[in-house]
Amino acid sequence: MERVPEPEIMSSAEEARVYYKADFSEVNQEFAHRVLELAPQPPALLIDLGCGPGDILIRTMKLIPQLCFIGLDASAEMLKLAVEETKKNHFSPKISFIQGDAKKLSFPSHLFDMVISNSLVHHLLDPLPLWEEVKRIIKPEGTILFRDLARPSSPEAAWEIVEKYSGNEPPLLKILFFHSLKASFRINEIKEQLTRVGLSG
Ligand SMILES: C[S@@+](CC[C@H](N)C(=O)[O-])C[C@H]1O[C@@H](n2cnc3c(N)ncnc32)[C@H](O)[C@@H]1O
Repeated sequence: MERVPEPEIMSSAEEARVYYKADFSEVNQEFAHRVLELAPQPPALLIDLGCGPGDILIRTMKLIPQLCFIGLDASAEMLKLAVEETKKNHFSPKISFIQGDAKKLSFPSHLFDMVISNSLVHHLLDPLPLWEEVKRIIKPEGTILFRDLARPSSPEAAWEIVEKYSGNEPPLLKILFFHSLKASFRINEIKEQLTRVGLSG
C-alpha cells in the first residue's frame, strides 16, 4: 500500500481527548522500561518529541526520577492534557512541557543526553527535518530512542490491526489509528532517511 500522509498536529480538543482516554498503558510502560535500560547517568536531560498527553514521560519519570524531563508537542490541546495529568499526582519540578515544532527546535545544539519519541514520525509529511534536528540537539554520546507504527500491506490489513488492538475503543480513535497506519513508514524507508542525515549505525 502506498503511504497516505495524515494531518501533522493533533490540534482538535476532541482528538486529543479521545487519544488521552485510550488505554496505551501496556505499550507505554514497555517504552518507559526501555528508556530505563538505555538511560544515561543522572543528572541528565531527556526530551520527548511529540509527547502528546505525556503518559510516557510521566511513566519514565516514575522509573528514573533523578533525570530532568522536557515534553514537547505542537498541539496546545495535547499539552493542556499533559499539564493536567502531571498536576494530578505526579508533580515534579523536574518535568516541564513546551509547545513547539519538532522539525524546527529552538534549543542549542548538543543539549540533550537522551531524545525519545513515540508515534510522532508517521505524522510528518517529510521526517528529514526532524531527523536533522534530532542529530543537532543530541550530545555526541547521547541516546536516541524512537518507536513508531509500521505501514501494513493493504487498507484491509490495516483495519485488521485496528480491530485487533483497539476493538473496544471509540470509533474516532479507531479511525485515527487507521489513518496513522496508512501514514506510517516501513523500516527500509526509515533506514534510508537516517542514512541521508547521517544518523544510521
Ligand atoms: C500519536 S500522538 C503520540 C503522542 C505520545 N508520544 C504518545 O505516545 O502517547 C503524536 C503527537 O505528535 C504531535 N506532533 C505532530 N507533529 C508534530 C511536530 N511537528 N512537532 C511536535 N509535535 C508534533 C501531535 O500533536 C501528537 O500529540
